[in-house]
Amino acid sequence: MNPLHFAAGLSGKPISDSRSEVTASRRITASIPGNLTRGLGPAYIACVYGMVNKAVEELIVSRFGADKWQAVKEKAGVDIDVFLSNEGYPDKLTYDLVGAASEVLGLPAREILIAFGEHWVLNTARQGYGSMLEANGRTLSEFLINLPSLHTRVAMIFPNLQPPRFHCSDVTGDSLVLHYHSHRPGLTDFVVGLLQGLATLFETQAEIQITQRKSEGADHDVFLIRWQNTAAR
Ligand code: HEM
Repeated sequence: MNPLHFAAGLSGKPISDSRSEVTASRRITASIPGNLTRGLGPAYIACVYGMVNKAVEELIVSRFGADKWQAVKEKAGVDIDVFLSNEGYPDKLTYDLVGAASEVLGLPAREILIAFGEHWVLNTARQGYGSMLEANGRTLSEFLINLPSLHTRVAMIFPNLQPPRFHCSDVTGDSLVLHYHSHRPGLTDFVVGLLQGLATLFETQAEIQITQRKSEGADHDVFLIRWQNTAAR
């Protein structure tokens, strides 16, 4: 278990690392919007690197304009002008931004999460971490099979990362099953967007089906991915 996450729940002391603004006494309960926490425990604590909130900002500003971003921040009660990529922010803040964006933009949270997943791969990761993406595989299937080690490499840059866990099973010539484990609730549609972004990145036609959802009582989320026209990049 990530020591930061563990300590945050138990020690009662401030966490003394770059994510120090989150203290153990500040247990974050689920005022998480909409259906994002359906089926999950009432309270958890974690924090996320600022690059994630920055990417949410970029997505909203680029698609809807700076005024809408200001409105989203106001609705979410977020009074931060600049998110610092290497700093930790409570997960709740990111969930609040997604919930507020859903209200301000009049879009379901699901659509925002999918758009954010695509944006993460095609903009944030491609522009900032292109070589890491390239090193992870030359085709969609190769990339997904190697996905478990991607965040291990990311953690070399972001040592307090609380990453998701992925693994593949049932790999065939044109399909595989992807398993996604996370302590964070409600991100299934974000993963759908990430997978769609990867299919676009690899110029591959892919069909993504959610076959098992943690929010409906399953142990973890499972995706069946079928593809055509995959070619090495
Ligand atoms: C090189 C590119 C990437 C970088 C730099 C990166 C970095 C990160 C960071 C910083 C977080 C936030 C976690 C934290 O702060 O504790 C995160 C979360 C996440 N990443 Fe990545 N990531 C990359 C690519 C991907 C790809 C390609 C996928 C999946 C297909 C993916 C799936 C996720 C998911 C699902 C989460 C949400 C966290 C959770 O479920 O607990 N990431 N990533």
